[in-house]
Amino acid sequence: MSPDQKDSLPERIPTHVGIIMDGNGRWAQARGLPRLAGHRAGTENLRRVIAACIEFGIKYLTIYAFSTENWARPTDEVQGLLKIFESVIDNELQELYDQGVQLRHLGRLDRLKPDFRAKVLKAIEFTRQNDRLVLNIAFNYGGRDEIVCAIQAMIRDGVDADAVNDELVSQYLFTAGIPDPDLIIRTSGELRASNFLIWQGAYSEWYFPATYWPDFDRQELLRALHEFSQRQRRYGLTGEQIKTQKKKKQA
Ligand code: FPP
Repeated sequence: MSPDQKDSLPERIPTHVGIIMDGNGRWAQARGLPRLAGHRAGTENLRRVIAACIEFGIKYLTIYAFSTENWARPTDEVQGLLKIFESVIDNELQELYDQGVQLRHLGRLDRLKPDFRAKVLKAIEFTRQNDRLVLNIAFNYGGRDEIVCAIQAMIRDGVDADAVNDELVSQYLFTAGIPDPDLIIRTSGELRASNFLIWQGAYSEWYFPATYWPDFDRQELLRALHEFSQRQRRYGLTGEQIKTQKKKKQA
């Protein structure tokens, strides 16, 4: 990013940004702190990134907070992450509401305790009318699990095999009605999708900063947006075809 770009927004802003908030553990380790301190710092950072998304006009933000595979982590870390999720709902809901955030959950709620599950559903209902930023919290989420759930639901609904197409599958996913992510960011230098939005991310642009999640600030997000605006999205076409399409649209 050149110095004059430092604070200006690029012309093309992604509608939907997905984030794999990776590196909390290493952030904590580097400071001699327990892993949960990293997750708490990551949660603090999330507040800043939500504010920046609103400021930049991003309409959908999907965060990977807990995967279907994360249950296998040490019990105290799993319990700590559940507590963090609950405390976000207990302590941040009003502020999120006031910011115009609509909360949604991606994944399964069935492994959560009934009162916690009820709390999550209530929070979703409370913010349902907000439309400044849709915040999808992927918690107990896995892309493969999501596709399995979609197939099961289609079979239960008696969907005819010939009626199954891209659009129908999308309607059966947890993200039904939400546009596919334009940009997916994974912090901490890891270069994997890790079961995150594997259907929806088919044509997403990926961005892999080395920064650990707790340090991924507004400026870093702005850098990601500038990088995104330089990318040519081709959806399987050639660069020439895309240029012709663009010219036609402008005419
Ligand atoms: C990955 O870093 C991060 C997670 C598995 C948890 C992310 C969760 C939060 C930031 C809490 C936000 C919560 C909600 C529900 C709003 P890692 O632990 O794998 O890091 P490492 O690779 O450095 O060990």
